[in-house]
Amino acid sequence: MAKPASGKFHESLPMQAEVPTLGLAPAGEEAWIEVIRKMDAVYKDLVESQTLLERQHAALEEAQQFIDSVLGSMTDVLVACDARGRIQQVNPAMVQLSGVAEKSLMGSAILDLFEDEDGAVAARLAGCFREARPISDLEVHMRQQGGGATPLALNCSPRLDHRGRLVGIVIVGRPIGELRRAYHQLDLAHQRLTRTQQQLVVSEKMAALGRVVAGVAHELNNPISFVFGNMHALKRYGAAISAYLDAAHGRADPQALEELRRKLKIDSIAADMKPLIDGTLEGAERVRAIVQDLRRFSSSQREGLEVFDVTRTIRTAVDWVVRAERVKPAVVFDMPGELDVCARKGHLHQVIVNLVHNAADVLQNRPDPRIEISCRREGEDVVIKVRDNGTGIPQTHMDQIFEPFFTTKPIGQGTGLGLYVSYGLMKEQGGDLTAANHPEGGAVFTIHLPANPG
Ligand SMILES: Nc1ncnc2c1ncn2[C@@H]1O[C@H](COP(=O)(O)OP(=O)(O)OP(=O)(O)O)[C@@H](O)[C@H]1O
Ligand SMILES: [Mg+2]
Repeated sequence: MAKPASGKFHESLPMQAEVPTLGLAPAGEEAWIEVIRKMDAVYKDLVESQTLLERQHAALEEAQQFIDSVLGSMTDVLVACDARGRIQQVNPAMVQLSGVAEKSLMGSAILDLFEDEDGAVAARLAGCFREARPISDLEVHMRQQGGGATPLALNCSPRLDHRGRLVGIVIVGRPIGELRRAYHQLDLAHQRLTRTQQQLVVSEKMAALGRVVAGVAHELNNPISFVFGNMHALKRYGAAISAYLDAAHGRADPQALEELRRKLKIDSIAADMKPLIDGTLEGAERVRAIVQDLRRFSSSQREGLEVFDVTRTIRTAVDWVVRAERVKPAVVFDMPGELDVCARKGHLHQVIVNLVHNAADVLQNRPDPRIEISCRREGEDVVIKVRDNGTGIPQTHMDQIFEPFFTTKPIGQGTGLGLYVSYGLMKEQGGDLTAANHPEGGAVFTIHLPANPG
């Protein structure tokens, strides 16, 4: 808008004091005075209007400057276009990102800005024009002068006149290249974190494994020793049977054969064979089960859900730990004979081992050390409690014990990962692990496990 030259009217009109009388008769003079007064009034109005105009102009300029500075400081791209999709206004970010001069952008078709091979962008924008329907987060690629395209997320809002008719749309586009890169970096960092966490779980498990090895060896010793004993007996039996068969094939007379049969105790050997073989098989079976448990425990692979008897897993885990302890605490079980659960067996085993380790640690040098383990079905859950009669957990530590690397044990005796990993393993299968102090002393850790996760 052109600015009127300030004070123009003051200069062009003569001031009242300078009006000449022209030597007219008094009546004519009065008329003149009246005319001059009118002129003066008109002149005053004119001056007032000019002042108002100037003020409005200054306000308008200020508003324009404000809008320009807002548009100029926007990092998002802004395009306003008319109802036919012709560009009417763009902001500097748009000029910079497209690489096209503002003048060239004005009046060009909005659709020419975007790559749109399959017509999807045109279809979405047509909807906005036709039904005055806003669009949010429409991903497009904006062409750039000299080739290439920039990914943008567009928000389009219809622009209406005072009668509510569509007069155009306003498009705001956010460059998402940076955002994508940042997201990619975040994703990589997350993957690295997940890998580190998995390694932590494995190293914690290996540390626990080191501690239970003595217990496992002890547990293996029992079946292996009776398999050995049985095999020695079978060897002796085999020798007796061979001697008897040799005599039989050498056609010894029936009486001598009968004598040999009594001497070699062939009848009692025959009767003993079945229980001996059954016992050996049972021992081998037991060894196989222990080895399976051990493999499951040490495996770093993510195991699936399976149905198993939770009481057996608890007993094995507790046995492994307690057998390896120098001073063995008394262990009291309060469990049904069998209780099936559908869960990750190796994970539950690992958690029980960790809890019993902690209980055994706190019970070292305590008189009358005792661990109570209960397991029962409560509604949809299986609830396992591990209680000790140790020092309990100081209230100030309650919030910290599940944090990684929190330990009160001397350096080299605890990594502070046992409870952190156990909590994660329980949560991962829809369960929970909580800690409390028992009113009669000692700590109680409670596991909640869905008996049949959906
Ligand atoms: N039964 C318990 N009684 C008292 N305090 C306990 C008990 N169990 C755990 N805590 C406390 O919680 C801390 C963290 O236990 P967590 O099992 O996570 O690590 P840690 O036993 O110190 O080391 P790690 O298990 O990695 O060898 C322990 O250092 C101990 O202070
Ligand atoms: Mg521990």
